[in-house]
Amino acid sequence: MIIPIKPWLELAESSEGLKGSAFERGMVASGLCLAADVEREELIRDGSISWNANTGMGITDRMEFYHEPIMGAEILSYLQPIGGKQIFDGTLGGGGHTEMFLREGAHVIGCDQDGAAIDHATSRLASYEDQFLSVRGNFSEMDSLLKGIGVDAVDGILLDLGVSSRQLDDISRGFSFRGEAELDMRMDDRATLTARELVNEWSEEELVRIFRDYGEERRAVRAAKAIVSARKEKPIETTADLVEVVGRAIPKTGPKNPATRVFQAIRIAVNRELEVLEAALEESLKVLAPGGVLAVITFHSLEDRMVKQFMHRRSNPFIDRPEWPEPRENPEYSFTQPSRRAIFPSEEEVAQNPRARSAKLRVAIRV
Ligand SMILES: C[S@@+](CC[C@H](N)C(=O)[O-])C[C@H]1O[C@@H](n2cnc3c(N)ncnc32)[C@H](O)[C@@H]1O
Repeated sequence: MIIPIKPWLELAESSEGLKGSAFERGMVASGLCLAADVEREELIRDGSISWNANTGMGITDRMEFYHEPIMGAEILSYLQPIGGKQIFDGTLGGGGHTEMFLREGAHVIGCDQDGAAIDHATSRLASYEDQFLSVRGNFSEMDSLLKGIGVDAVDGILLDLGVSSRQLDDISRGFSFRGEAELDMRMDDRATLTARELVNEWSEEELVRIFRDYGEERRAVRAAKAIVSARKEKPIETTADLVEVVGRAIPKTGPKNPATRVFQAIRIAVNRELEVLEAALEESLKVLAPGGVLAVITFHSLEDRMVKQFMHRRSNPFIDRPEWPEPRENPEYSFTQPSRRAIFPSEEEVAQNPRARSAKLRVAIRV
């Protein structure tokens, strides 16, 4: 199957639809990227960043632009993003993985639901010009997002799930308990549900469910009861308020803040992270060309289980049941898997990048 490369160029020329879009901004922002290149050179020279020869990316905690993409070498080896291929990066974030693909020669459509991430990555990657296009949207709608820019199929999909360090570090977004901010936690600021609404309006039972299921918090009931009782006095408005309420209910036993799991659970619920992942996996079947690769990096056992089951269920050509005289064709067969097991980051990567510690990569190839 031949995939048309850069159909968005013809679209941009012919349509008003992309006017003012990230595409157009990307075209005019190349000066910003040059400035970033100069800054990178200075950082390498003064030793603030080091260079990884495998991925061509810099490692620094001073400059998040050049953070090392998680499992970069493994992702490159599975996606093989050479010239002539077209990759959908559903979690553009800081553009780390996307830049790796661009360096190898692939065309990349980078999607993110966070407008700030889109703006940042579009500026950063502007020097790749028509090799790169950014699209703001939810990866669960990848089929319609791609069709909207004239792309029917892609050779690779990457989903590097969760929030970016940039989102976590921006205290005003309310993802982190390290500073005081309004309870927000939306990756997409156009969404209506905020953490504030969830914490102040959801029932005790719903809070228990998400703390247990999404946070794997053993003391879910205590945390939920404390929240419901505190909000009767006055609304829980800020991250600091929530940390205090949860801290009173769950005593600190280790180095972690007792509110860690509650924050994670609320973030997953606010952004409907499991629902959109489930939808995205189904969508991948529509947009991957034969031989196309689906790569998903998860950081949480619920996400990983969902990805594992989705891939396993579709990677057996035949299914068998004890009551059947012989195996039957699997109507869902759509992938092969280079490995049925999850792939883990190397010890070296985990030592360099603590965020990689809980990462798991699963890969499937469209038949
Ligand atoms: C872990 S970061 C990705 C980092 C990126 N791979 C890099 O190397 O810079 C995850 C990004 O995906 C975005 N994201 C998470 N869920 C999303 C979804 N359902 N649709 C679109 N973007 C999503 C977040 O806003 C965030 O910017």
